[in-house]
Amino acid sequence: MRVFQIEGDWGMDHLKLSTRPVPSAGPGQVVLKMKASSLNYRDLLVPLRGYGSHTGSLPLIPLSDGVGVVTEVGAGVTRVAVGDRVCPIFSQRWISGEPDLERLTQTLGGPVDGTMTEFMCLSEQGVSKVPAHLSDLEAATLPCAALTAWSALVTVLPTRPGDRVLVQGCGGVALFAVSFAKLLGAHVTVITSSAEREARVRALGADATINYRQTPEWAKATRDITGGRGYDLIVELGGEKTLPQSLRCVRPGGVLAMIGVLSGGAMSAALGLIVTRQVRMQGITVGNRDGFEAMLRAIDQHRLQPVVDRVFAFEELKAAMAHLQGGSQFGKVCIAH
Ligand SMILES: NC(=O)c1ccc[n+]([C@@H]2O[C@H](COP(=O)([O-])OP(=O)(O)OC[C@H]3O[C@@H](n4cnc5c(N)ncnc54)[C@H](OP(=O)(O)O)[C@@H]3O)[C@@H](O)[C@H]2O)c1
Repeated sequence: MRVFQIEGDWGMDHLKLSTRPVPSAGPGQVVLKMKASSLNYRDLLVPLRGYGSHTGSLPLIPLSDGVGVVTEVGAGVTRVAVGDRVCPIFSQRWISGEPDLERLTQTLGGPVDGTMTEFMCLSEQGVSKVPAHLSDLEAATLPCAALTAWSALVTVLPTRPGDRVLVQGCGGVALFAVSFAKLLGAHVTVITSSAEREARVRALGADATINYRQTPEWAKATRDITGGRGYDLIVELGGEKTLPQSLRCVRPGGVLAMIGVLSGGAMSAALGLIVTRQVRMQGITVGNRDGFEAMLRAIDQHRLQPVVDRVFAFEELKAAMAHLQGGSQFGKVCIAH
């Protein structure tokens, strides 16, 4: 079968189209014929061994996210049947409960082989059935970005109707955060890089937008939006350069969901603001299968439609990664298998 894998050494030059034997299902396992994959920012770091020893060993099949159809089930499998359409879950061993080191590190696309393959063999515990109304490409966007947004807004930090939420950018996690925040009845502000993107995200339901290129001091500009009260929740995706401003516009007692480091991973923050405003900074690391399946039920119930930016062919993986690196995507970059 065809696979993409990082082989020989780390680095983008070593990411190659290759072949492996088709797997077969052992007891408790399922084999999936993969239909589509999608990219996350993380997938750009894995070929560079960006997560150190947690990135895994070579050869490694990249990408955590995808959808496939079950073609074979091993002895004792009860969760799914041949013909079911399922997503592999991001953290293969994190089914429920709190994170621990093993649950956080058994993740697809590094160190565990990912979705850029024709067939995948996984534990039946590591897959979840997807809503019927979603296309394969839409379903392939869900395991990492959507669950991360869901964890930030529902599982870890429950959002209430009327809450004021600020989301950074119009990438994968950001647009899911907008969609879920609206579903929960929150008022949503999005900061983004162009007027065109402001219009597109308003059409998706954002109540207010700020162009952070035109208004680099965007925290000040939010005062009118929140009536000086500040945000209940900030979906912090920028990291180094956005954090100081987020701390200026979160409300006293509010929360920063610490998810991304798009502008850098070091922290230089006014600690006084965190203390005197009793601000909580909560790290979010994707989420578990219970959260994923709760999210799938909500997506099904409300017929939510993930935003697919652009679709590449299987053999165009590197072009898809370059497109993601360019940062012009609106929503998810996908691969049709
Ligand atoms: N903790 C977790 O579990 C978890 C899970 C998934 C992702 N992440 C992290 O979350 C971040 C976003 O991931 P993603 O996959 O959604 O990325 P993505 O789809 O590549 O999104 C990138 C978008 O973010 C916006 N952006 C870039 N730099 C920005 C900045 N300095 N300030 C505000 N917005 C900026 C841009 O949109 P605009 O042009 O519209 O501003 C860009 O298109 C990454 O750092 C990723 O590693 C963490």
